[in-house]
Amino acid sequence: MGILEDKANARLFYRYFSRVYDTINPYIWDDRMRNQALEWFDADRDDRVLDVGAGTGFATEGLLNHVDEVYALDQSRGQFEQAFTKFGKRGKVRFHMGDAERLPFKDDSFDKLWSSGSIEYWPNPVAALREFRRVVKPGGTVLVVGPDYPKLRVFQTLADAIMLFYDAEEAEEMFTEAGFEETRHFIQQRHRGAPRAITTVATVPEEAESSDTDAGSAVESGSAEPVDR
Ligand SMILES: C[S@@+](CC[C@H](N)C(=O)[O-])C[C@H]1O[C@@H](n2cnc3c(N)ncnc32)[C@H](O)[C@@H]1O
Repeated sequence: MGILEDKANARLFYRYFSRVYDTINPYIWDDRMRNQALEWFDADRDDRVLDVGAGTGFATEGLLNHVDEVYALDQSRGQFEQAFTKFGKRGKVRFHMGDAERLPFKDDSFDKLWSSGSIEYWPNPVAALREFRRVVKPGGTVLVVGPDYPKLRVFQTLADAIMLFYDAEEAEEMFTEAGFEETRHFIQQRHRGAPRAITTVATVPEEAESSDTDAGSAVESGSAEPVDR
């Protein structure tokens, strides 16, 4: 397990990295890649969308070109501080501090769920994917962007020491284990030689399991921790 696949380490990392995130991010994950993924996501204006690991809001900003409002969840306050400067604390983005592996939302709360560049930090990605299946309505879409496993042995060793990198086969295994049946995997790359992203678009099965929580109209569950609300 890589050093950043530990929630405390990832939080510490982003306390500092958040200050330069928006400067460095476009070299790896840029507007064109995000917009391509948004096409696959295919959101309707009134869809209720959750962005997990929303960070400074790079993807959230893209999502807001397609939907009226976005629920954003992250475990790093430093990252959210940057996002507040873009969207304000209360507006079209509803911020929630929380953990991808234990989402503070009721079953079937969302039409669609997006998560870009966050899965590589989760110690138990399958647990998070199960949570995604739980909070998204049957028939809804889950889109996850992560880092593709490098081809060269020397990069593989380095990648494994830092965080989760995975290929389409492993993505398929994780999504299947989490209960998804319909998945598509795409490789995205800024330019030749740049790091590759693997983007999975999955559909929540119609007969998704539901827990005994009430799936009423309110989105937040009792354990929700909205940011400064
Ligand atoms: C590379 S940034 C991605 C930000 C944004 N989604 C984007 O597309 O630019 C990864 C984000 O995942 C968040 N993160 C890492 N582990 C998390 C977890 N277990 N639960 C929630 N957020 C997490 C980090 O705090 C960070 O903001």
